[in-house]
Amino acid sequence: MSQSLQQITLTRPDDWHLHLRDGAAMAAVAPYSARQFHRAIIMPNLRPPVTTTAQALAYRRRILDALPADSNFQPLMTLYLTDNTTAEEVRRARDSGHVHAVKLYPAGATTNSDAGVTDPGKVDDTLAAMAEIGLPLLVHGEMTRDDIDVFDREKAFIDHQLAPLTERHPDLRVVFEHITTRDAVEFVHDSGPNVAATLTPQHLLFNRNAMLVGGMHPHFYCLPVLKRESHRQALIAAATSGNPKFFLGTDSAPHAKDAKESACGCAGIFSAHAAIELYATAFEQAGALNRLEGFASHFGADFYGLPRNKEQVTLVRQDWQVPDTLPFADTRGEAPLVPFLAGEALHWKLQP
Ligand code: NCD
Ligand code: ZN
Repeated sequence: MSQSLQQITLTRPDDWHLHLRDGAAMAAVAPYSARQFHRAIIMPNLRPPVTTTAQALAYRRRILDALPADSNFQPLMTLYLTDNTTAEEVRRARDSGHVHAVKLYPAGATTNSDAGVTDPGKVDDTLAAMAEIGLPLLVHGEMTRDDIDVFDREKAFIDHQLAPLTERHPDLRVVFEHITTRDAVEFVHDSGPNVAATLTPQHLLFNRNAMLVGGMHPHFYCLPVLKRESHRQALIAAATSGNPKFFLGTDSAPHAKDAKESACGCAGIFSAHAAIELYATAFEQAGALNRLEGFASHFGADFYGLPRNKEQVTLVRQDWQVPDTLPFADTRGEAPLVPFLAGEALHWKLQP
């Protein structure tokens, strides 16, 4: 990476955790990711969820069809793990060449997770097959029991579910997705080289005050929820450490404006419009712009056993304002989307 005060050039980044949705919603948001990233790991929490290889391949085809004609963006597909996912299905997924991971949502943890795993112990045979064929498990790391405080759910997941799981399957490759706490940083740090983590722009840039001080700010609400400042500092330290276990995954998750600004608002922050600019902002604040390229463009590919990208992108120091809304549509029809940091000024801009 070459660096000067005014511009940064780096290998084209990849997004190792992305929600593209489907249909008109997908058509509205996919170009933002394709403009920035060469590849993205596509989350399978559609309704109904993507539980089979056949569904993943059909979804991949719909994504490719929704992209601009000149795009060479590569969607890397995932399967949604349920209590009933078989070892045979994950082998079929691996053999397809297009499924790169399997996602574990604890049942009820987040948007469209009702079909998720009720107890990781129930899927041990499937996890053993994944370890054998080298297919990574991606985990939404929150324990969903009613009596567990929402701010403690990541720690409870580590203690009661993830640590035992990695002990039962020491060779399984695991990505602890969108980590939000010092506890998760320490767990990943202390685990073997087969355990890694993704970090979102919102968890690097903000603590829970952004969501709760001066009113309720639904566009800062996602799951796992933003945590206190000491946790944010641990995440920043991990992201900028140069440790290849920590890499970029936006968790960009669009919901229509009225679904967010509601008495029961949806969890999810849409960041794909400015993802790499948001990460550059966080790394610059930490005085670590020289560590951005490894985090954004190298470590994820290395973990997934894929080649690093050949192309480069350039960010220039330029003030610009995030739009108040972007055109969007969900299953109900057209509805605007509020992008992350709507109306705010950003100081880095990706060159077209
Ligand atoms: C995601 C979504 O909307 O699909 N929401 C979120 O808050 N991150 C689901 C998820 O990744 O938890
Ligand atoms: Zn997600």
